[in-house]
Amino acid sequence: MSGLAGIVAGETSISAAGGAHNLEYCGYSIYDLAEHCIFEEIAYLLLHKSLPNKTQLGEFCEELKSRRDLPVPLREVLERIPKTAHPMDVLRTGVSFLGNIELESETHDQYEITKRLLGAFPALLVYWWTHAHTGKKISCESDSETIAEHFLTLLHQQKSSDLHVKAMNVSLILYAEHEFNASTFTARTITSTLSDFYSAVCGAIGALRGPLHGGANEAAMELISRVDNVDDARDMVKGMLSRKELIMGFGHRVYTEADPRNRVIKEWSKRLCTEGGKPALYDVSETIENIMWEEKKLFPNLDFYSASTYHMMEVPTPLFTPIFVMSRITGWAAHIFEQRENNKLIRPSAIYTGPEKLDFIRLEDR
Ligand SMILES: CC(C)(COP(=O)(O)OP(=O)(O)OC[C@H]1O[C@@H](n2cnc3c(N)ncnc32)[C@H](O)[C@@H]1OP(=O)(O)O)[C@@H](O)C(=O)NCCC(=O)NCCS
Repeated sequence: MSGLAGIVAGETSISAAGGAHNLEYCGYSIYDLAEHCIFEEIAYLLLHKSLPNKTQLGEFCEELKSRRDLPVPLREVLERIPKTAHPMDVLRTGVSFLGNIELESETHDQYEITKRLLGAFPALLVYWWTHAHTGKKISCESDSETIAEHFLTLLHQQKSSDLHVKAMNVSLILYAEHEFNASTFTARTITSTLSDFYSAVCGAIGALRGPLHGGANEAAMELISRVDNVDDARDMVKGMLSRKELIMGFGHRVYTEADPRNRVIKEWSKRLCTEGGKPALYDVSETIENIMWEEKKLFPNLDFYSASTYHMMEVPTPLFTPIFVMSRITGWAAHIFEQRENNKLIRPSAIYTGPEKLDFIRLEDR
């Protein structure tokens, strides 16, 4: 029961993870979705529970595009956040501030806020990052059709290759939704108190920030950057395992044999490392994967090969987990909607293990 492992905490029709399902969003295999869709189709699917037709997708993309710009007061807040801040804290603050100036209401409802956040997250992140590191105030908009391309365009201030845009798109699809993971469950718990949408998202960002959850992709990058050849990689991991250190990007609470998303992102990592002239980065990663399986029967989760994939797109490591937010906002939103549709306060109970029936000692006698 430690960490609620194996405890079924509720029902959902949004995604199924593990067992015969592997991983399905609203009944669709992530393999089909990652191969054939753009991220916006997945966002639409999770929010509407059905895939969009061409007209619906076109309208949805336009709606998101029209929500990219940041209001001046929010830019001013971002400009005051120092470059030493953690980008996840910046996103949390950005969402929280937006919640004060674009309040949830009947006209600005949960669906509107989701579209707003989906549209605005790339600028929220990159506006701050660029200002903090260079002092420049970038435009928050671009001609890019998709969120994947828009993010890369803002970050690099130029168009990215089709290959990188496609890889980013796939990554956003794979990160979009994952049942009752810690951040989603946090969002549902906050929602269950009848709190507002922004509070649920801020809480979810806080949960995702930790290295046992979303933060693992940054920790994985730090790990694979320590060595530049397979021999050193082997020695490093064996040493870490002998010291009982965690290898970030490995293991999973729900999956026992493999993370189904790994096979997709691994292919992209291989392609980007090879075509980008850094095959050693992929070789080091694969060596670590092999040793982890041989020594511990542990497999890479989505975060492990995401690290090298993002690195090859020249995304700074501190922005890895925020990309997860740009994607997972869709899953969080779908779960907030679902929780609200049939709400019941989430309030489990605990087995008390502390002292009992102590004699009370008055303050002056202690
Ligand atoms: C994801 C994670 C939290 C799941 O943990 P869990 O279901 O609670 O499993 P446990 O932590 O109980 O691990 C079981 C055993 O495997 C070991 N283990 C699990 N993940 C490990 C890892 N990444 N590196 C080294 N050992 C690991 C544990 O130390 C433990 O060993 P023990 O039985 O000798 O004590 C865990 O695998 C982990 O910490 N992974 C690294 C962080 C990460 O990648 N997070 C992203 C998840 S998508």
